[in-house]
Amino acid sequence: MAEGLHGREKLVFLETFGCQMNENDSERMLGLLKGLSYTRTKDPSDADLIIINTCSIRDKAEQKVYSILGRFKSLKKERPWLVIVVAGCVAQQEGEKLLKRAPHLDIVFGPHNVHKLKELLLQADSGRKVVVTEQTGEISPEEYGIEPVELEEKAFVSIMRGCNNFCSYCIVPYTRGREVSRKSADILSEIEGLVEKGIKEVTLLGQNVNSYGTGGGGDDMSFPELLRKVCRVEGLSRVRFITSHPKDISDELIRLFGEEPRLCRHVHLPVQSGSDGVLAAMGRGYSVEYYLSKVWLLKKLYPEMAITTDIIVGFPGESEADYEATMSLLRTVRFDNIFSFMYSPRPGTTAAGLPDQIPLEVRSERLQRLQEEQKEITNERMRGLLGRTLDVLVEGESKIDASELSGRTSCNRIVNFPAPVWLQAGPGCLIEVTITEAYQNSLRGEVRAAGC
Ligand code: SAH
Ligand code: SF4
Ligand code: F3S
Repeated sequence: MAEGLHGREKLVFLETFGCQMNENDSERMLGLLKGLSYTRTKDPSDADLIIINTCSIRDKAEQKVYSILGRFKSLKKERPWLVIVVAGCVAQQEGEKLLKRAPHLDIVFGPHNVHKLKELLLQADSGRKVVVTEQTGEISPEEYGIEPVELEEKAFVSIMRGCNNFCSYCIVPYTRGREVSRKSADILSEIEGLVEKGIKEVTLLGQNVNSYGTGGGGDDMSFPELLRKVCRVEGLSRVRFITSHPKDISDELIRLFGEEPRLCRHVHLPVQSGSDGVLAAMGRGYSVEYYLSKVWLLKKLYPEMAITTDIIVGFPGESEADYEATMSLLRTVRFDNIFSFMYSPRPGTTAAGLPDQIPLEVRSERLQRLQEEQKEITNERMRGLLGRTLDVLVEGESKIDASELSGRTSCNRIVNFPAPVWLQAGPGCLIEVTITEAYQNSLRGEVRAAGC
């Protein structure tokens, strides 16, 4: 290690790609690094440690890693003590191959090994290259519950990892391994600890939270049972969860929205396609009719429920008629928002080997048309909230105008609002806001009352 480094605080540059699970892993890394006297920097050229927490869900995400690594090559020449780490799903997928492509890398480790970061840094300190892609079949209590560094009013809590569904297009079961649930007692004590530190909202995380406790690990508790217990943790204002697989969304879970007032009225229910043929080839395990039955039940019981989804266009063999069926599903359901993607073949998945791959221009054109269609629907759904008074959990300054405050509704929409002089609300306060303006991605409103 270079002279002078021991005497001062060390700096880490950390960049995260991908889903909330990666965000959560990054938070845990920062928590561990805090104990090793690292502070975060926004400038990689200042850093003693660079970590890229990667995603390989689509090819584009994976390629980003290589271009970023290329940029850091010269930094390593200037600062030979610099340690460069690739973590996350590309690390798991590529392992040793990453070291061959980028010899200036020091450590490669997969998502199951986040808690070993300290040990890996020590090994790299002695000049070794380290690659760790072991996957374990259980979760020890010390792996999670590492105190996040940047705590404000909300936090993510992983309740399980991995996925057993093997949808034919998806890399996640390979990069995150088999489904393993954490013990309910560990999850609840992590949440109680977060509440003590001022957290008001938690989002329970898993690739398919509805199957909590049914794969490996966990205990005898089902997801709805766990969710009920979490909703009742004293001091918490709101509870969310992502993601639910439509095939496993039970009536018991649906009923909870009516029984637990702290459970936010938002469900992210990825449908992927509006064609039964495509859904079958994707291996999703449900039909369009089944999916719609769940959506109608949710909408009937809770008319203000926000429903969002994920869509893939251009899956191998998707005909124009299949694609039109997806467009028609959008018009029928009128989702509050969608996340839509062009199908991207992933190495080792069944779909990558299917005949009739759709040309890039067709995939791209279909995506564009789909997004245009949804833009109108999102807009209309946002305008539907005009004049309504909604509960908003304050998060901080508005990103649009720093003199204003910003927060989220129970249905997860951003609301910006001017703070009246009488308002003493900071992050974590629940207030009532009447919606006066609606845009594509946010709402604006006037404060009516504050609960704190
Ligand atoms: N576990 C969640 C999804 C996690 S991945 C679920 O099953 O609902 C997030 C989204 O990425 C998926 O819902 C899907 O829409 C998209 N996705 C996954 N693999 C993809 C691929 N190979 N090409 C394009 N989009 C993909
Ligand atoms: Fe991927 Fe399907 Fe698992 Fe979701 S449920 S992570 S899409 S394999
Ligand atoms: Fe990406 Fe891995 Fe999440 S592939 S979407 S970071 S599980």
